[in-house]
Amino acid sequence: MTAEPTHTCYEGHTVPNFQFYLEHSGEHEAMLQCVQNVLPGEFTRIGAGKSSLDVLGVGSGGGEMDVHMLSLLQSAFPAVPITADIVEGSSKLTDNFKALVAKTANLQKIPFNWHIMHSGDYEKQVKAKGDMKKFDFIHMIQMIYYVDNLGETIKFYQSLLKKNGRLMIIIEAGNSGWDILWKTFANELHQCNDAIKEYRSSNEVIACLKNQGLKYDEHPVPNSFDIIECFNPSSETGQRLLNFMTAQENFHESFTPEIRASMLDLLRDKCSTEKDGKVFFNSDLKCILVHG
Ligand SMILES: C[S@@+](CC[C@H](N)C(=O)[O-])C[C@H]1O[C@@H](n2cnc3c(N)ncnc32)[C@H](O)[C@@H]1O
Repeated sequence: MTAEPTHTCYEGHTVPNFQFYLEHSGEHEAMLQCVQNVLPGEFTRIGAGKSSLDVLGVGSGGGEMDVHMLSLLQSAFPAVPITADIVEGSSKLTDNFKALVAKTANLQKIPFNWHIMHSGDYEKQVKAKGDMKKFDFIHMIQMIYYVDNLGETIKFYQSLLKKNGRLMIIIEAGNSGWDILWKTFANELHQCNDAIKEYRSSNEVIACLKNQGLKYDEHPVPNSFDIIECFNPSSETGQRLLNFMTAQENFHESFTPEIRASMLDLLRDKCSTEKDGKVFFNSDLKCILVHG
């Protein structure tokens, strides 16, 4: 059964805005460097002695990171069968993910189970069925901002881990440019956007893990990108970046001139570093591995 995707999942204008952001931010490249360093060792520990490996992606979007991680897992255990379950609320991004799988030769042997639904609906469905499929590796990349209850969500997905399993959460780092922007303008940003339940950074996730007494490891994912175009009102690139960074369809129409000016000042003065005529926005992430 496919539940109706809710408004937190990317549809409509959010899809091209997100893809535009990915092309300009170097975010996937930064994450890839981290996962290529960290995951081979983790996968060796996770998979030791297992005769099958089950992966769950939550909020996987177009699946670009999933495809790399599944390939890494497959090269660590070439003879072990792997399954992939994907919980993603956006039908458009899931179509892109399916197309990517279709053209990735080494993934043809992996069966994919597509759950096109909100992570909360997946949780309800699994609990109602009673027989929970457990996983060796679960990941939530840049999606935990959108869940209703951070603590309950982490508790549920961590409970789906098999022995030696890991839940990987990638999220904006505490005190990164995103954290400063969203915390400073929380009221203004929330007024026009109800998809993001609560702007969270790695600080909130780590506080939650400590509170639940869960064991975890942390890895930095350094990243920055040039936002100089955001300060040119006639630049389409700048405006599209601002739309995504403030989670609006149209940054200019959403805020008063005074709020726009203060946001732009904050972006330049508190969230970025200027060098060689460029304005590098601090987009550092954290990769957190929660133990099973
Ligand atoms: C910022 S994108 C990240 C996509 C992908 N993980 C990546 O890093 O490229 C957030 C993704 O989470 C999905 N999403 C948001 N809330 C969700 C929820 N509660 N359950 C499932 N998917 C959700 C969106 O549709 C979108 O694909």
